[in-house]
Amino acid sequence: MATPRPCRGVFLLPVKTHRLRASDRDHGDMTIQAQLDDLHARAAASLAEVVDLDGLASWERSFLGPKGELTQVLRGLGGVPAGERPAAGRAANSLKTELSAAYDARARQLSATDLERRLAADAVDVTLPGRAPTIGTVHPVSRMIDELSDIFALMGFQTVFGPEVATAHYNFDLLNIPGDHPARDVWDTIVVDSNDEEIVLRTHTSPMQARTMEATKPPVRVVVPGRAYRYEAQDASHDWMFHQLEGLAVDEHITLADLKGVLGELARQLFGAERRVRFRCDYFPFVEPGVDFAVDCAVCGGKGCRVCKHSGWLEMGGAGMVHPKVLAGVGYDPAKYTGFAFGLGIERMVMMKYGVDDVRAFAGNDLRFLRQFASI
Ligand code: DAH
Repeated sequence: MATPRPCRGVFLLPVKTHRLRASDRDHGDMTIQAQLDDLHARAAASLAEVVDLDGLASWERSFLGPKGELTQVLRGLGGVPAGERPAAGRAANSLKTELSAAYDARARQLSATDLERRLAADAVDVTLPGRAPTIGTVHPVSRMIDELSDIFALMGFQTVFGPEVATAHYNFDLLNIPGDHPARDVWDTIVVDSNDEEIVLRTHTSPMQARTMEATKPPVRVVVPGRAYRYEAQDASHDWMFHQLEGLAVDEHITLADLKGVLGELARQLFGAERRVRFRCDYFPFVEPGVDFAVDCAVCGGKGCRVCKHSGWLEMGGAGMVHPKVLAGVGYDPAKYTGFAFGLGIERMVMMKYGVDDVRAFAGNDLRFLRQFASI
């Protein structure tokens, strides 16, 4: 592109414009043809210097506009001797046609360049790699909940959810937990309100046992994933908020063998077909008998390692046969119905499955930890 030269004001300076008027005295000695030739030469030279549409507009004003030089010449034709007038008029008109055509051509050219310039300024490089959207990942605990729901669905269990704020009636009383049970100690339970009726953050998912049974008649088969809260100091294996998966099956003729079958199947679905399970006597007020449930360590195959603390077993939670008092508490006939229940720690299962060694990582919101689960 030609470097715009500083405008010498040939057509902008009124002085010059004035000097060139056909009627001007100074030109009295110049023939019309000479004036037109001069005008032609300057108009052409100045048009060559026009670099944009604004410049072109002012060029047009100076030479062709109502106050432009050529118009002045045309107006001055009246003063030309009659004999010369037709020739002068033709010459002036033909210059006008020529300059108008030059103007149009230049205008087309400049509009095209202007468009090109604007397009270039707006240009988008479509070959640049796009910005990848940041997509969140499912939290490892949520993912485990989904996996557990799927496994239990295949065994006929429906997944239900319940409130995290519970009355002591559901959290304790209906579960046969007497007022002097350690779980009712204020140091374990986060109490929300104790005015009329004690309201607590549920200390386990077990309150959904009674709620489910109150809402349905047997047969019952549900699992209840969700948060539980305890007033507890945090360390690598304890947090004050954690997740459990409650299970409950009530029907006629349910036995401990059903419980063992269901939890054995769970362990194999979750940790591999060769897993073995162990049930040992334990005590929970809402089951009789009560057991603790463990799976042989998938890391060492039961030989003993750091993950299983050299015991060969990993404890998954508690379970047992639903206590007759719990059944009676919700109006089920304990002589007719039996059932089993279990409560599993979900973080613990994720820790076992992925080798996580600190439970605090789950609610710590450290993206470096969470992102590791994106590709699993
Ligand atoms: N709710 C118990 C706890 O949080 C776990 C548990 C044990 C749940 C035995 C059960 C069960 O349903 O049968 O420690």
